Amino acid sequence: MTTNTTPQSEKNRVLIFDTTLRDGEQSPGATMTLNEKIEIASLLDEMGVDIIEAGFPIASDGDFEAVTEIAKAAPNTVICGLARASFGDIDRCWDAVKNAKRPRIHTFIGTSPLHREFQVQLDRDEMAQKIHDTVSYARNLCDNVQWSPMDATRTEDDYLARVCEIAIKAGATTINIPDTVGYTAPRESADIIRMLLERVPGMDEITIATHCHNDLGMATANALAAVEAGARQIECTINGLGERAGNTALEEVVMAMRVRQDIFPYHNSIDTTKIMQASRLVSTVSGFPVQFNKAIVGKNAFAHESGIHQDGMLKHAGTFEIMRPEDIGLAETSLVMGKHSGRAALRSKLENLGYSLGDNQLIDVFVRFKELADRKKEVFDDDLIALMTDSETNTANDHFQVKSLRVVCGTEGPQTADLSMKAGEETHSVSATGDGPVDAVFNAIKMVFPHEAKLALYQVHAVTGGTDAQATVTVRMEEEGKIVTGQSSDTDTVVASAKAYVNALNKLIVRRQKKAPAALT
Ligand code: KIV
Ligand code: ZN
Repeated sequence: MTTNTTPQSEKNRVLIFDTTLRDGEQSPGATMTLNEKIEIASLLDEMGVDIIEAGFPIASDGDFEAVTEIAKAAPNTVICGLARASFGDIDRCWDAVKNAKRPRIHTFIGTSPLHREFQVQLDRDEMAQKIHDTVSYARNLCDNVQWSPMDATRTEDDYLARVCEIAIKAGATTINIPDTVGYTAPRESADIIRMLLERVPGMDEITIATHCHNDLGMATANALAAVEAGARQIECTINGLGERAGNTALEEVVMAMRVRQDIFPYHNSIDTTKIMQASRLVSTVSGFPVQFNKAIVGKNAFAHESGIHQDGMLKHAGTFEIMRPEDIGLAETSLVMGKHSGRAALRSKLENLGYSLGDNQLIDVFVRFKELADRKKEVFDDDLIALMTDSETNTANDHFQVKSLRVVCGTEGPQTADLSMKAGEETHSVSATGDGPVDAVFNAIKMVFPHEAKLALYQVHAVTGGTDAQATVTVRMEEEGKIVTGQSSDTDTVVASAKAYVNALNKLIVRRQKKAPAALT
């Protein structure tokens, strides 16, 4: 809120609106299961996110259920659902969020000339009427209503000011200004907010939000510029996940405000020490690896390779570090684990890495750790992260599970795979040949579960150095325009490949059950 009577500290508070579970999940291949969404929501709630956009309830029964369940898993957070400018969407959204302690309806319509003409085919007056009707309708159901003029940054100033005024008069409590196609630049992003504050009666009495996409790599800068001009809610996602080039990254705006308090004198309620944990969880669940040099959460963000940098770091960390690794939940990494490490050491190490395990989970992870330590002399932090990721991604409840695999490969073909695989209650044993060991394994899996899904990506990366390193394999598959991603790690690359493929198939069957409409926004 930015009313004149609000104390300074409240005036400078920036609400963090996380849309990982809605805009993030819309990015091709980032489909999440209900349990995965609940796990993310509960961590977002714990880390102090103000508003969670939990989904798009009209999109599918799965989305509807996710929004209702997330409301239970995130008791401290405002739970928001998305709805197009239609009474049916708004009713469905309200049904999904109404049992949350603090529900919000977020309704939107594309207001730019291109959207008016081609997407919704309404002229200016017809659209203005629709905005009035739908926002009033939402406000009659819920006292917390957010309205977004989609593609706001390509909407004419006069029209944008007019429709914002209509939405405020109809009862919107938050007006979000989306840069839907990642087209704006920092100065313009700020100018739009200033223009609205100057021209729209009541604009200073509601919360102004900024929602930026990263197509030109300016999402974080644009969001912060909007805040400097008066926005007090940033819409963002963990790791910047989202449509195309993604959304503003939560970790970037939060750390920028923290590290540069001198130029961004705003505050928010995020516990930054949970950032790494959230980053890893979202990367695992979405199957989108974090770019090594990604700001804040990339593997190299705190690594110092060059001699000059290492020398400086030894003398004073401030020479080359503007924030401390522990501020984002990255612990000092001195203790390397091995096969003689005990359960207590493993628990403490995992806690340092941001994983808190119940006793039963620790027993299971310890067994996997021992198996890994038997195969690898030294188990590094990245190995443990890969192991945790794997145990969270591939579980004993999965429909398909690899039971055993033997592969013959080498210069004398054909390469063959003997596979035993569980499908529901049944176990199948099959043999297949292929063009190389991975092809043979994938052919064997396809014998157990014949399907037409297309392999869109097969990617391998080594978790650490050395020939005994674990390989993390990512497999992306496409079926009828929908994409799923599977991941697994193992010291045997072919085994990791089989498990990653099976992980993708498990998600494919969940996706088939969801039957979501292909494109809603
Ligand atoms: O990018 C966008 O415009 C959106 C809206 C639905 C707010 O995600
Ligand atoms: Zn968006």
